[in-house]
Amino acid sequence: MSVVRFSVSLEQKLVEKFDRMIQQSHLPNRSKAIADLIRNALVEFEWRTGHEVAGAIVIVYDHHKRNIVTKLIAIQHNYHEIILSTQHIHLDHDNCLEIIAVRGKPLGLDNFIKELKSIKGLKHLSLAIGTTGKTLP
Ligand code: NI
Repeated sequence: MSVVRFSVSLEQKLVEKFDRMIQQSHLPNRSKAIADLIRNALVEFEWRTGHEVAGAIVIVYDHHKRNIVTKLIAIQHNYHEIILSTQHIHLDHDNCLEIIAVRGKPLGLDNFIKELKSIKGLKHLSLAIGTTGKTLP
C-alpha cells in the first residue's frame, strides 16, 4: 500500500481539540485518526449514493405485544432479499433484542428501516451503517 503525504490547514483550537480526542481515544497518531474519519465519511457517502452497502439494525421490544411480533415478521418477509440474517436474543422475561444484518441498495435499506420504525411500541431501533468493503482500500 503506497502512502501519500498531504498538508491540511486548520484552526489551531480545532487541532488542539482533535489532538486531545486522539490521546483520549488511544489512537496511535493523527494520520490514523484522520484515516478513520475519511473511511467513515466514505461509508456514509456510499449510503447516500446508491452503491451496495451493508449494516446491522438493532431492535428491542416486548414480545408480549403480539402486534409488534406479527408486524416485524411480515415486514422482514417483504424485505427478505436484503436480509442476510436475523439474530433473536431473549434478554429477559419480557424483552427481546433482534440484530438484523442487511445488504443491498441504500434506498431499499432506507425503506426497510422506515417500515420498521412505523411499528408502534418498539423500545429501540438503531442502525449501524457498514460497508461491503468492495469500494474501500
Ligand atoms: Ni425473545
